[in-house]
Amino acid sequence: MLNQKHAVLLESPAKTNDVPPPSPVQIQEPDTKTVGRVTVDKPIMTTRNVDVYYGDKQAIIDVSIDVAYNEVLSMIGPSGCGKSTFLRCLNRMNDTIESARVTGKIELEGHDIYDKKTDVVTLRARVGMVFQKPNPFPKSVYENVAYGPRIHGLARNQSELDEIVQTSLRRAGLWDEVKDRLGQPGTGLSGGQQQRLCIARCIAVNPDVILMDEPCSALDPIATARIEELIDELRQNYSIVIVTHSMQQAARVSQRTAYFHLGDLIEVGETATIFTNPQDKLTEDYLTGRFG
Ligand SMILES: Nc1ncnc2c1ncn2[C@@H]1O[C@H](COP(=O)(O)OP(=O)(O)OP(=O)(O)O)[C@@H](O)[C@H]1O
Ligand SMILES: [Mg+2]
Repeated sequence: MLNQKHAVLLESPAKTNDVPPPSPVQIQEPDTKTVGRVTVDKPIMTTRNVDVYYGDKQAIIDVSIDVAYNEVLSMIGPSGCGKSTFLRCLNRMNDTIESARVTGKIELEGHDIYDKKTDVVTLRARVGMVFQKPNPFPKSVYENVAYGPRIHGLARNQSELDEIVQTSLRRAGLWDEVKDRLGQPGTGLSGGQQQRLCIARCIAVNPDVILMDEPCSALDPIATARIEELIDELRQNYSIVIVTHSMQQAARVSQRTAYFHLGDLIEVGETATIFTNPQDKLTEDYLTGRFG
C-alpha cells in the first residue's frame, strides 16, 4: 500500500511480509572461483561477475553471490579486502565516489539496479544502509524517522506519518526509550540509541534489504548486544547484509558468511560450517588468526 511508488519506479510488485515470491528468473550457478555455493534458492538480490575499480586499481574481482529473503548474510575479511566496496555496490553508493567504476550485473528481484531506468533514490530506500558511526540528522527524533517517508510520499496525512514513525521506532526497539522525547534532537541520544534511530530511519521507507557496515564498531558491548538481538528480529521482515570485523558477531547473527580476501570472494557457506569447517586455506588462516 504505502510503497506503491517504489513498486512503480522499480517495476516490482508491492512488498508484503508473506511468503516471498519466486524469483522471476531461474538463476544458474555461476562460473566462479569461490568455494561453496554462492546462489540461494530464492534470492532477493543476485550479483554476477562484479568488478569494482577505483581509477586503475581493482578493489573487487569477479564476485558473484546471492542474498536470500529473510537472511542475515555476513561479510568478513581483513581490512582493505573490499567488504565496504562490495556492500556499496548493492545500493549504488559507489556512484557517489568519483573514481569508482562498477561492472557486472546486480539485480534486485530480477531488476538490474544499474539499468538507466532505475531510480537511485528509490533503490536506496529499498536497499537501505546503516553506517559504522551512527549519523542521525541534526533534527528531532521524530523528524529523523519522518524525513524519508515524507520525501517518498509514503504518508497521506499527519496521522499516517505518526503511525510510520511509531512503527519504525518500535521495530527498531527504540520506541519505549524515546516516546516521551520525540521532539528532542536525535543527536542527544546515546550511541546505541542513535544507531537504533538510524535503523528506524532506514525501516521507515519500507526497505527490502538493509546493508550494515560494521554497525556496532562504535558501540559498547551492551548496545552491541541490543543491536544484535534487533538484527535477528529484523530478519523476519528484511534481508540483512552485514560487514563485521567481529567473527563472534558474524557467528551470532548470520545464517551465511562470505569471506573476502584482497578483492576476491574466497568462500561462502552456512555460517556454522564456515566457522567450524572452512574449505579454503585462506579462510581457515583468517579464522584461526594466522592472517589479518
Ligand atoms: N574511495 C576510495 N578511493 C580509492 N580507493 C579506495 C576507496 N575506498 C576504498 N578504496 C580501496 O579499495 C580497497 C578496498 O577497500 P574497502 O574499504 O572496501 O575495504 P574493507 O574490506 O571495507 O576494509 P575495512 O575492513 O578496513 O573497512 C582498499 O585497497 C582501499 O584502499
Ligand atoms: Mg570497510
